[in-house]
Amino acid sequence: MKKVLVVGGGGRCHAIVDALSRSSEVGKIYCAPGNAGIAAQAECVPLKDTQVEELKEFALENGIDLTVVGPEVALAAGIADVFSAAGLRIFGPSKAAATIESSKDFAKRLMAKYDIPTAAFETFEDYDKALEYVRKGSLPVVLKYDGLAAGKGVVIPETFEEAEATLKDMLLDDKFGKGKVVVEEFLTGPEFSFMCFVDGTEVYPMAVSQDHKRAYEGDKGPNTGGMGAYSPLPFVTDEDMEYAMEKVMKPAAAGMIAEGCPFKGVLYGGLMKTPSGIKVIEFNCRFGDPETEVILPLLESDIYDIFSAVADGTPMPEIRWKADASMGFVMASKGYPGSYGKGFVIDGLEEALSDPAVRIYHMGTALKDGDVVTSGGRVLMVVGSGSSLRQAHDTALKAVEKIRCENLFYRRDIGGRVL
Ligand code: AMP
Ligand code: GLY
Repeated sequence: MKKVLVVGGGGRCHAIVDALSRSSEVGKIYCAPGNAGIAAQAECVPLKDTQVEELKEFALENGIDLTVVGPEVALAAGIADVFSAAGLRIFGPSKAAATIESSKDFAKRLMAKYDIPTAAFETFEDYDKALEYVRKGSLPVVLKYDGLAAGKGVVIPETFEEAEATLKDMLLDDKFGKGKVVVEEFLTGPEFSFMCFVDGTEVYPMAVSQDHKRAYEGDKGPNTGGMGAYSPLPFVTDEDMEYAMEKVMKPAAAGMIAEGCPFKGVLYGGLMKTPSGIKVIEFNCRFGDPETEVILPLLESDIYDIFSAVADGTPMPEIRWKADASMGFVMASKGYPGSYGKGFVIDGLEEALSDPAVRIYHMGTALKDGDVVTSGGRVLMVVGSGSSLRQAHDTALKAVEKIRCENLFYRRDIGGRVL
């Protein structure tokens, strides 16, 4: 039986651990650092996702057969390169390939060079030149810090004053660190997430899903890491899927080979269905969070075999999915995405899990004196599946209502647009 190490600790990693626990080949799962929910299915290892050398030593000492990486920071820190150099099998792109997420400028130039549809753009290092360009253009405009900024590097100013202040933050005051800014055309239309397994050359699609970025119902309030997700998406047609595969994902994988950094792992296309066709908003180099929590429960095939085929460059087995719908509600700490308290006891998890169509993925929890307590901004992702989105919605919401915690809130309108 195989030993697998999952690197990361949020809901996405819980969903990966859950999928691995259904594998007939996997005997033991470790997760670093994991969390209170993951601890029920894996042995948690007290190492952070960026402690690459320590993680390598752990994998060598414990005879780990395969490592699977959740978060982009570990990939951008070169974990795949370090593990590969030590002869360890790993699922996740090299540092060079992870640049598709860690540098917006790299991603935009890749798209321009290989004719992948995206918003018109210009990249600036100089504050005055950026400001002059923005002043000549129209509003709103999209300003993107070039490096990783934990989801806070994109600002869409509605006024020139706001644009000026943002450019000052990014280029003069180096709020996110020294870096360039991509100034981009503002696009409109529904957004969706398209994740694919990519083994370098071949691209294997997963179902598309939609995240809900705003904190409050009716798409109001500040942007978050995501407050819920669902799949499938009625507004994405078969033709759209074909276009996204042929014009976006396959050319991106081919472009990465041509650039000398073949992509191996999950390539995530953040796409928008605009009035003039599907366009790329961003690429990510890893599973999405919370999208993974609604997609992986639908996987029927053994995920260890899929990860292995990508890691080893061996033929991909047939990937089978349930035809079901899946929807998940994030329960977050009151105050999130701003400041929030921690350590509040969560009750009712067992009752919520009594329906076999429910899965609960822990995003930010810890164990304290035998209780599960809140320990992050996003705390739980409660997922329901069913034969329709309505059924998945009702199943998930019923489970959410069984969970008791004085410091949690959630959006009741997940999937509202399509129900
Ligand atoms: P990103 O980090 O690139 O995904 O950007 C964060 C969010 O900003 C996206 O999910 C979109 O909602 C929005 N956004 C980014 N680029 C554009 C664009 N060109 N036009 C309109 N909205 C955008
Ligand atoms: N849900 C957005 C992301 O994973 O980047």
